[in-house]
Amino acid sequence: MEKIRTAIIGIGNCASSLVQGIYYYKYRNSEDTIGLMHWDIGGYKPGDIEVVAGIDLDSRKVGKDVSEAIFAEPNCTKVFYRDIPKMGVNVVMGKVSDGVALHMKEYPKDRTFLVSDEKEADIVDVLKQSAAEIAVNYLPVGSEDATRYFADCCLRANVAFINCIPVFVASDKAFSEKFKQKKLPVVGDDIKAQIGATITHRMLAKLFTDRGVKLDRTYQLNTGGNTDFLNMLARERLKSKKISKTEAVQANLNERLEPDNIHIGPADYVPWQKDNKVCFLRMEGRLFGDVPMNLELRLSVEDSPNSAGCVIDAIRCCKLALDRGTGGALTSISAYTMKHPPQQFPDEKARQMVEQFIQAKRER
Ligand SMILES: NC(=O)c1ccc[n+]([C@@H]2O[C@H](COP(=O)([O-])OP(=O)(O)OC[C@H]3O[C@@H](n4cnc5c(N)ncnc54)[C@H](O)[C@@H]3O)[C@@H](O)[C@H]2O)c1
Repeated sequence: MEKIRTAIIGIGNCASSLVQGIYYYKYRNSEDTIGLMHWDIGGYKPGDIEVVAGIDLDSRKVGKDVSEAIFAEPNCTKVFYRDIPKMGVNVVMGKVSDGVALHMKEYPKDRTFLVSDEKEADIVDVLKQSAAEIAVNYLPVGSEDATRYFADCCLRANVAFINCIPVFVASDKAFSEKFKQKKLPVVGDDIKAQIGATITHRMLAKLFTDRGVKLDRTYQLNTGGNTDFLNMLARERLKSKKISKTEAVQANLNERLEPDNIHIGPADYVPWQKDNKVCFLRMEGRLFGDVPMNLELRLSVEDSPNSAGCVIDAIRCCKLALDRGTGGALTSISAYTMKHPPQQFPDEKARQMVEQFIQAKRER
């Protein structure tokens, strides 16, 4: 099968898990697919994804082969596949823009970003020279300008875009229209993990609705110790994140909750947790006879492989769209794998839509 030539923007923990996963599954077969939603997507296997370009700004990553950069500090996710061969792809220096929050400077260097003094690369040229077809955006939350800059570079270099962060690109009509005009697919926004806080909260919200229980109020508090959680201590960077995560749950309710009755967001940074994310979820409702009930749940997951499990499918669906000449926002895979897609669907419906898309029974 043809390779899926992929560029990665932000070689952090999520990129590390994705690359490890590509090699972990490369040497497996269809009988041995634990952790995957799909072994085969239109003929493409996980091992058909090839990383052809890497962009970052950290001095411990820029200039290194991607196979080394994914294990460099401050990355701290669980290593489940160490044996990554040299790729011959050196990480290039991106545009810093709003990628690094001010407070990041106050933390020990093994836990924070260290901006390299390398000269900024010509990203359009890097994308063209590498013949990348798809770029995956893994910048820190709040990188509004940087995301738009890299998305524009992709438009100029004719590269499809998968936006894993809560900056609105696929779900922004004007922005996704630009990709459509260039016949480039765009998937986004804000990756929804395999079994993470959002999908669990959505499923429970749907369960309440389906079983006739009135949800009165709910919260979802998350803690973690990776750079993603450290970055999110800057509350002013979280505007889009809050919209994305809250809408993902509101969309599964018959009746929307008043803003004061739904609180969803990162709660704190706990360094020793590293890439382990813990979610505390509470839902209060009323069932038969208006009688009150409540539910409490604690979910503990390794954050980055959890997102890679969805990105590995998003990349292959994006490639199918490229093969078919379909440009613009891909509604089905975005609804299934992203928190803030162009259009929300219940997850079971989104799953069916993805299967139809893979079988070419629906265009997007
Ligand atoms: N893990 C999940 O389940 C999950 C879910 C939803 C969204 N996300 C989002 O995915 C993104 C990536 O997460 P992560 O855990 O890999 O984060 P991370 O902090 O480990 O990685 C971010 C990387 O981007 C680099 N970077 C920062 N600014 C840059 C710039 N201007 N140009 C190039 N590189 C830059 C950093 O040096 C770092 O290597 C975050 O926004 C996160 O919120 C993750």
